[in-house]
Amino acid sequence: MADNGNDAKQTLTIRDNRTGREYEVEIHEGDVIRAMDLRQIKVNEDDFGMMSYDPAFTNTVSTRSTITFIDGGKGILRYRGYPIEQLAERATFLEVAYLLLKGELPTESELESFVRDVTLHTYVHENIRTVLDGFRYDAHAMGMLISAVAALSTFYPEGKQIRDPEVRWEQIVRLVAKMPTLAAFAYRHHRGLPVVYPENELSYTANFLNMLFRIGGKGYRPNPVLERALEVLFILHADHEQNCSATAMRVVGSSEADPYSGLAAAMAALYGPLHGGANEAVLRMLQRIGSVENVPAFLERVKAKEERLMGFGHRVYKAYDPRASIIKRTADQVFEVTGRNPLLDIALELERIALEEEYFVSRNLYPNVDFYSGLIYQAMGFPVEMFPVLFAIPRTVGWLAQWQEMLEDPEQKIARPRQVYVGADQRDFVPIEQRG
Ligand code: CMC
Repeated sequence: MADNGNDAKQTLTIRDNRTGREYEVEIHEGDVIRAMDLRQIKVNEDDFGMMSYDPAFTNTVSTRSTITFIDGGKGILRYRGYPIEQLAERATFLEVAYLLLKGELPTESELESFVRDVTLHTYVHENIRTVLDGFRYDAHAMGMLISAVAALSTFYPEGKQIRDPEVRWEQIVRLVAKMPTLAAFAYRHHRGLPVVYPENELSYTANFLNMLFRIGGKGYRPNPVLERALEVLFILHADHEQNCSATAMRVVGSSEADPYSGLAAAMAALYGPLHGGANEAVLRMLQRIGSVENVPAFLERVKAKEERLMGFGHRVYKAYDPRASIIKRTADQVFEVTGRNPLLDIALELERIALEEEYFVSRNLYPNVDFYSGLIYQAMGFPVEMFPVLFAIPRTVGWLAQWQEMLEDPEQKIARPRQVYVGADQRDFVPIEQRG
């Protein structure tokens, strides 16, 4: 129930001016009314009843959730109540994964057994490698990863038992464990290099970096600053409540599809340049701008709507994205090891001018998570095609947490929105020879 500090009734009175009738509907927690309460509003008894129209779900609540809290106006992000700043500073990625998936931070022994389970599931069936071998040398890593995850569904048919919590947890562990392996295999294919198999004694991120960058039999050990930077980036990307890809995961999962198929759909949603593909689009944009002198002319084109300033703006944040602030600080640490990314100056100049310009200020457009992350990834040696993949690996945790919550929510059922049909009225079929 909304708490407005007085004893006023927590209801809304709707007057239908077509009929003069009034309806009282309850206001629920979060200042929401139930869309189904509108259905009673009718002109005639045999009317279908009123619905709400909300393309792109800009003002529609699709679930009650306990996973991630965002206050977009204040720039606040919390996982299960814990501020993102504290988690990025003090937790490991697998600790955060456990928190998101189970609801509480793990005890030492819970974390130990979770890390062991994830570590034991990092290998993939050799035939998955053959699937990946079938791709062209220049295939986009994200296309390969989506296909590989969809293919996993055929290797683990028991994943279809989505109502069994134990079976479900096993698939969750498998997916968290195998994503870095699949991503690294896709990268090695792209580079024409033999795959490097997982090494169980390494941390989640160190193992990933090892599978990506090790050449020959030499013991590759990632720089600890870079290993931690990747861990921080993974924590920041782990969940973001009901975004486009989480919604895809929930919608596909609502038909009771297995989690591998659902995850492939979520990854496809993430791939687009307006969502997780934005980090790649930012880098390409910075390369296209080329130098600091070209920034003002580029921003003029943005204001004329001939360009979009990638990495800026957000549906929910109308303040600085808290993840972007942390990433900016992480970038400084990474550049101390790798050397400064020359594109950073262009990014800083874009931000400096944009934060002063009326166009951006009046629309509340601030840097989002994707604005600086690509600069770090590039400095660490990742090709741009890997950027959305680096988003998908940690977000797997969020998608699975959202999927699990959806399955356990007795109010959820198969997702199926309505439409207002505005096409042709009934008409008779015209044989082809009579069509003008
Ligand atoms: N550059 C220029 N103008 C923009 C931008 C931008 N990046 N973003 C929004 N606008 C303008 C937009 O043209 C509109 O102007 P007007 O009122 O004159 O029509 C106004 O701001 C409101 O934008 P909108 O498109 O209605 O906002 P939305 O909530 O539908 O879109 C967004 C949110 C993230 C898709 C959009 O801001 C965008 O395209 N940003 C660039 C892509 C990007 O960085 N995406 C990553 C988002 S964060 C990570 C993630 O979700 O994966």
